Amino acid sequence: MMGNSKKVFIKTYGCQMNVYDSARMEDVLKPLGYEMTDGPKDANMVILNTCHIREKASEKVYSELGRLKNIKKRRDEENEMIIAVAGCVAQAEGEEISRRAPYVDMVFGPQSYHNLPEMIAKAHRAGNEQGRGVLMTEFPAEDKFDHLPAPTKPEGYSAFLSIQEGCDKFCTYCVVPYTRGAEYSRPAEHVMREARELVAQGAMEITLLGQNVNAYHGDDGRGGEWTLGRLIRELAEIDGLERIRYTTSYPAEVTDDLITAHAEVPQLMPYLHLPIQSGSNRVLAAMNRDHTREQYLETIAKLKAARPDLALSSDFIVGFPGENERDFEDTLDMIRQVKFILAYSFVYSPRPGTPAATMDLQVEAAVANERLQVLQQLLKDVQAEFNNDCVGKEFPILLEREGRREGQLVGRSPYMQPVHVKAPLDLIGKIADLKIIEARQNSLGAELVNVERKHA
Ligand code: SAH
Ligand code: SF4
Ligand code: F3S
Repeated sequence: MMGNSKKVFIKTYGCQMNVYDSARMEDVLKPLGYEMTDGPKDANMVILNTCHIREKASEKVYSELGRLKNIKKRRDEENEMIIAVAGCVAQAEGEEISRRAPYVDMVFGPQSYHNLPEMIAKAHRAGNEQGRGVLMTEFPAEDKFDHLPAPTKPEGYSAFLSIQEGCDKFCTYCVVPYTRGAEYSRPAEHVMREARELVAQGAMEITLLGQNVNAYHGDDGRGGEWTLGRLIRELAEIDGLERIRYTTSYPAEVTDDLITAHAEVPQLMPYLHLPIQSGSNRVLAAMNRDHTREQYLETIAKLKAARPDLALSSDFIVGFPGENERDFEDTLDMIRQVKFILAYSFVYSPRPGTPAATMDLQVEAAVANERLQVLQQLLKDVQAEFNNDCVGKEFPILLEREGRREGQLVGRSPYMQPVHVKAPLDLIGKIADLKIIEARQNSLGAELVNVERKHA
């Protein structure tokens, strides 16, 4: 297999951690002679890197598998296609996948990507009556990150870096603790090395990833541990790393140390994704979130005292079991108070094996959908207000690529808004001061003020 070119198509669902993992799988597959391709048609192997978070997300996988089955059927022995299911659905459903889709050859969970060469060899040895029956869904004791090759930076100036994986919070609606396992922090030195490599390859912005990233406590190799705050301070010393972000954080674990980092580290962007899920204390308690709305607001007040230009985004679940109109009003009130500049919102989806799935008082779908509409309209209004308030202000913008219009570049503001500006091509890969002159629902228009300003 080595040397002769085979093609692999990796389709990624779900969160940024899956995006990161898919890139790592590419890094494992390239030395085996696999080239990336962007569709199943010419692929010798298709990997679906799946998400189990809501029912819709996992059902998508089965409809995609249905389509792949037809392609696989038309292939001959010379030009066979291996179908693999990776990620959180693989971890949660394991053999069930082979039962529902017997033509699937490999099923493996998020902790086993470094074993891909071994799994592929096994699949090649197996006969292909139906699927090849390769299954790997244990949580191995060793650190998969230790066994993965050095990362290649993706195109562009922005890179993800997973520093923490798994979750011990057990929110009553959530599958992540079951699909990703217990909380694990990568050793500090490994993270630093990977960050330096990414910057050496041209990354100007790094987003630190973890299901519960602010719980990071990486071994420092000297019997101690680094907090996320410490890690951010050390990363800020890397020459050429202009922007640092981290996601996703758990509100009850935003420490004073982390808040101080927001005050002290200019490279740390004034934008934080801090999911609240609900504005009602009753619902938060039923969700097993370890904080009240008051504590959440207090944390935000502290963050804003440290970094006055800080803005927040969030996630919301509506229609959680037992949620009534008053609870929902509390959520709307929360949005009005905090003025989240962006939010992802979902109707509660009961997940097999989670405590909330069997709670009494499941909310009717029609009611939940109605609430979602109201919530999303409010979020849209609040976002539009923020974007409008940006008009007239100047921001440092990392110019990333050409826009669709002639002479136009696209960048991202500290708040992640896409910004369009007329500017010369050689400004790509630079941070420029731009004045915002126009606001749209999801993007901004700007004019060039000044080039080559460093840090926010
Ligand atoms: N670790 C992150 C989020 C992980 S999942 C955190 O704690 O915030 C991403 C989002 O999906 C969650 O914030 C939540 O809003 C949503 N989500 C998770 N489980 C869900 C479920 N069963 N139904 C609907 N939305 C869900
Ligand atoms: Fe899921 Fe809660 Fe953990 Fe986030 S903190 S991953 S919502 S269990
Ligand atoms: Fe989905 Fe797994 Fe991420 S369930 S949201 S892909 S951790």
